[in-house]
Amino acid sequence: MFENISPLTADPILGLMAEFRNDKREKKIDLGVGVYRDDHGNTPIMRAVKEAEKQKLTIESTKSYIGPNGSERYNELIQNMTLGSNHVVIKDRRIATIQTPGGCGALKIGAELIKKVKGNSTVWVSSPTWANHIPLLGGAGLKINDYHYYCPVTKRINKSKMFETLEKASDGDIILVHGCCHNPSGVDLDEEDWKNLTELLARKNLLPFIDLAYQGLGDGLEEDVTGIRKLLSIIPEALVACSYSKNFGLYRERTGGLHVILSSADITNAVSGQLGSIARGIYSMPPAHGAFLVEQILDDGCLKSIWTGELNEMRGRISNLRMKLATELSEATNLDFNFIMNQKGMFSFLGISKEQIDILKNKHAIYMVDSSRINVAGLNSNNLDFFVQGVKAVV
Ligand code: LMR
Repeated sequence: MFENISPLTADPILGLMAEFRNDKREKKIDLGVGVYRDDHGNTPIMRAVKEAEKQKLTIESTKSYIGPNGSERYNELIQNMTLGSNHVVIKDRRIATIQTPGGCGALKIGAELIKKVKGNSTVWVSSPTWANHIPLLGGAGLKINDYHYYCPVTKRINKSKMFETLEKASDGDIILVHGCCHNPSGVDLDEEDWKNLTELLARKNLLPFIDLAYQGLGDGLEEDVTGIRKLLSIIPEALVACSYSKNFGLYRERTGGLHVILSSADITNAVSGQLGSIARGIYSMPPAHGAFLVEQILDDGCLKSIWTGELNEMRGRISNLRMKLATELSEATNLDFNFIMNQKGMFSFLGISKEQIDILKNKHAIYMVDSSRINVAGLNSNNLDFFVQGVKAVV
């Protein structure tokens, strides 16, 4: 039965991770996969998470099933984290939330829900977008189109082209929007763009599907969702896929959630039931550990303040690295890399060719994704100069 299966080319991000692991050179830099690293190059467990884990050992009293929709309290807490507890959507009870295995689980459940409701839907994704959006959404049978986003010349959003392509979307189409820290470009919508997007979505009756994987790593926990919150106070229906891999450092614990915002509270229970049934048909129930920790942290003032402090440190480190990198690269190469300072979150495109990327990997042991996306958080005081010299040698 399986003898004719052909091998696949490796996933662009996970394949690079494996290549890096197998590279025996002593001095090497991994700027591939989007994982936060500290100045020693480690991805430590956050202090608040460690503390919550200790508490879990004493508090947890059962390993019995939790149900397809996960923990009710967790779902409530992440609704507040995304929308703010005073948001009209929460007050009106027009939101159904399901705990999911990471942000990918949330995207998948969202895609399956859309398919269930309207099987021939088209989803518009930014060009470029995170590589895994395509299999996650397309795999559910949704049609994928793209809209203009990043301009490699200006290193900004090509706004006129973006809105021009979005005008082509048809009534009922879905628009996938990166909530903050756009992956892979680091270029985010500003206040005006969120306003214009909201107007367009309302006028054309389009459904926003927001991927929120980096809340707190752009400008701040609240600041990063200002545009989303305003949009959701106007647009009646939407999906928001949340990941807690990055901001809680829970990557391997697969911790996320999907919010479905509805036009009426009358259908909240029905939608919750549908979400649970989709999950039941894929993985039955979400893993409990990561969500337990997030719940514990968000529900405890002391743990929450330790966590926000750590998150602020991470964001500050990335922003300092961006300044340093932009300055040092510009000085060393006589080229303008100052755009790196203005971008947000972990990623930026360096804007170099595939050939230069290959030389950096093969000759200098510097790894980045083929698109020239770098994970800025992979740099530190020990490797920044090595990286700058490597780039200088190839540009
Ligand atoms: C990334 O973009 O590198 C991360 O989101 C990790 C992943 O799963 O691709």
